[in-house]
Amino acid sequence: MHDFPLFLDLHGKDVLVVGGGTVAWRKVQALHKAGAKVRLVAKTLCAEIAASPVDHVAEQFEPKWLDGVWLAIAATDDELVNEAVAEAANARQIWVNVVDQRALCSAIVPAVVERKPVTIAISSDGQAPVLARRLREKLEAEVPQWTGALAALMGRFRDKVASRFAAFSDRRRFWEALLDGDTGQQLAKGDTQAAEAELEALLAGENRRSGWLKLVGAGPGDPDLLTLKALQAIQAADVIVYDRLVSDAVMNLARRDADFISVGKEKGLHSVPQPEIEAILVREAGAGKRVVRLKGGDPFVFGRGGEEVLAARAAGIEVDVVPGITAAAACSARTQVPLTHRGLANQMTLVTGHCQPGGEDANWRALAQPKSTLAIYMGLTQSSHIADELMAGGLAASTPVLVVENGTRPEERRFRTDLGHLADTVEQAQVKSPALLMIGDTVTLYQEAK
Ligand SMILES: C[S@@+](CC[C@H](N)C(=O)[O-])C[C@H]1O[C@@H](n2cnc3c(N)ncnc32)[C@H](O)[C@@H]1O
Repeated sequence: MHDFPLFLDLHGKDVLVVGGGTVAWRKVQALHKAGAKVRLVAKTLCAEIAASPVDHVAEQFEPKWLDGVWLAIAATDDELVNEAVAEAANARQIWVNVVDQRALCSAIVPAVVERKPVTIAISSDGQAPVLARRLREKLEAEVPQWTGALAALMGRFRDKVASRFAAFSDRRRFWEALLDGDTGQQLAKGDTQAAEAELEALLAGENRRSGWLKLVGAGPGDPDLLTLKALQAIQAADVIVYDRLVSDAVMNLARRDADFISVGKEKGLHSVPQPEIEAILVREAGAGKRVVRLKGGDPFVFGRGGEEVLAARAAGIEVDVVPGITAAAACSARTQVPLTHRGLANQMTLVTGHCQPGGEDANWRALAQPKSTLAIYMGLTQSSHIADELMAGGLAASTPVLVVENGTRPEERRFRTDLGHLADTVEQAQVKSPALLMIGDTVTLYQEAK
């Protein structure tokens, strides 16, 4: 047997709360939010309840306090009192909730995610409240904050839409077209006026849907390290233009019906030339599609994101950039090797070990600084040269190095070595890309996994 889910309209209705502690206070607050008139029975009151406008009618519970109430909540730490409240309420056919005592409840209070006027309630029939709370946390993260504003907007236009479309199926099609459009994005920016204009235009029969382009940082691979904005963009995209560095776990979060365009981009493997990638972005967004250019890590850290922004601007296409966790930050967190640390490193350098053909190599000797952490991207093939140069610049051969391959992914590997042995380590362990080299005294804080 399962509980019957239901929302109660308690506005202006009497509700009895028995208990005066912090748990009772949370119930009182929720009831006030719902517009209920709270009648309270408790021996002692916590400061918050004492300062709130409750009607404190008695110190001891007696069945007469249930007269005229629609709902009773027992939130005392006295089991006998809780039982008495439940028994009396049941005898009068009044819904009763006893906090943390499922067996005494005829009504249970779900975990909720609120985006007023939208409320999502989660219940496990009282069997796994911790799981219900965990689900609530997930939804809190995934349901955009602007959901409430969107629902309110739809509510304001409900009558107008109903008079414009007589048939239910036409109305439904209209609302679906609205939800598929850019209204959410406009509300996310706080632009209610633009959202209303969009709705009015749709109502007038104009197809105003315009494409957008977002450069989105996919982080190092672990999907839990995506930002909420990145997740929302990925799930809204019609087209995803992605690099090989973007993990499968992240790709799996996209809509199944999106178009996926792989542009490769991994050293040594076939990849689409940069101008061609830019042309794809301009073409797809220009055709009115919602395009996510998904890049490993952060789009602006060795990601050529700047070039793509310039290309979009030149084509008159609006572009947003959603940051991602760059490999240095991710590998540092995963391995608990801080990038800066009092006494060990007061600066850090993110540098690429892979220069463009004909491009300028980093000035490694100048980067051989004490009290500094070097995070070297794409440094595998040049590791021998880099180590030699850093030592020629003054770093000791014993300078600690941590190599992190596939940081944050299930196949992650780490190798603790030093500058003098870096090239040998890379070769012997056959370290593969993507890998980050972390060099400096902060690496002494690294602890091998037990
Ligand atoms: C073209 S760069 C892109 C960097 C990316 N935009 C970022 O912010 O992390 C690719 C290099 O980033 C580093 N990298 C990216 N993801 C990594 C990961 N999960 N673990 C270790 N290194 C990573 C590697 O050095 C790799 O060769």
